[in-house]
Amino acid sequence: MFKKLFQDDIAEKIKELKKKRDAVILVHNYQLPEVQDIADFRGDSLELSRQAAKTSAKVIVFCGVHFMAETASILCPDKKVIMPDIQAGCPMANMINAEDVRRLKREHNKAVVVGYVNTSAQVKAELDYCCTSTNAVSVVNALKGEKDIIFVPDKYLADYVSKKTGKKLISWNGYCPTHVKILPEDIKRERKFHPFAKVMAHPECLPSVVAMADAALSTSGMAKFAKEDSAKEFIVATEVGLIYRLKQDNQEKEFYAASEAAVCPNMKRTTQEKILWALEELKMEVKVSEDIRLRAKKAIDRMLEII
Ligand code: 13P
Ligand code: SF4
Repeated sequence: MFKKLFQDDIAEKIKELKKKRDAVILVHNYQLPEVQDIADFRGDSLELSRQAAKTSAKVIVFCGVHFMAETASILCPDKKVIMPDIQAGCPMANMINAEDVRRLKREHNKAVVVGYVNTSAQVKAELDYCCTSTNAVSVVNALKGEKDIIFVPDKYLADYVSKKTGKKLISWNGYCPTHVKILPEDIKRERKFHPFAKVMAHPECLPSVVAMADAALSTSGMAKFAKEDSAKEFIVATEVGLIYRLKQDNQEKEFYAASEAAVCPNMKRTTQEKILWALEELKMEVKVSEDIRLRAKKAIDRMLEII
């Protein structure tokens, strides 16, 4: 009861301050329910970058992980992009650095380099094309004449894209520590409990899990599929935070987490209190040097031209 009153109070203060600062709050689908509740826009990484690019607000409060806020800053250098907790990183993005990509390029000097949006701005500056889980297959399919394609850093997304496109990809040993916690045994168990449920899996999952799914989708792809599909029950193989949105959007349907262990600790660092402090102080700014920004933006723009 007190917690609820306190929370309502904070939410009200955030609303007021947001107006004063001319700010917009962008929230990733994995954020805590209390953060999703105060979003101006909630979405997957591609949708959030698009939203950032078209907002007229002066300040973007990015509730997600660092690479997402950085992508927003790359797309809108004239806006102030702040994070409520700047320590919220993505361990997968940290599994590769710019020198690793340069080395790969030296080893495969004719290759085109495609990189997942889950990378730092420095890594993006080395890419030919950026991609997200929504459009990775379309981006690779668009590379018609290319023989060698480097795809970094997620080896499981690379495996999924390679199977879908029939193209051999030179991959990197990166992965998401949260999605690999979902095991084929989890899907088997949940299917036994819910025999009529459809399984949706994020392509960051283990290939053995993706192979068992009815659909492999990004987080917003799952939100769309759950709304449009005739099934009444779904087993959700991704970070558990998405279930809050799925339940809100589809109150007559049931959603079961494939594994309660699939929690991204970095996504849970953002709270309403931290959002309020961030709006008060406007300190935790995410900024990229102009040289890196322009190079990274090329890879993002090329992606946006394809889809
Ligand atoms: P989405 O683009 O599907 O939101 O995925 C981002 C992410 O970090 C998944 O772990
Ligand atoms: Fe990174 Fe995985 Fe967390 Fe997504 S869920 S932000 S890929 S660690």
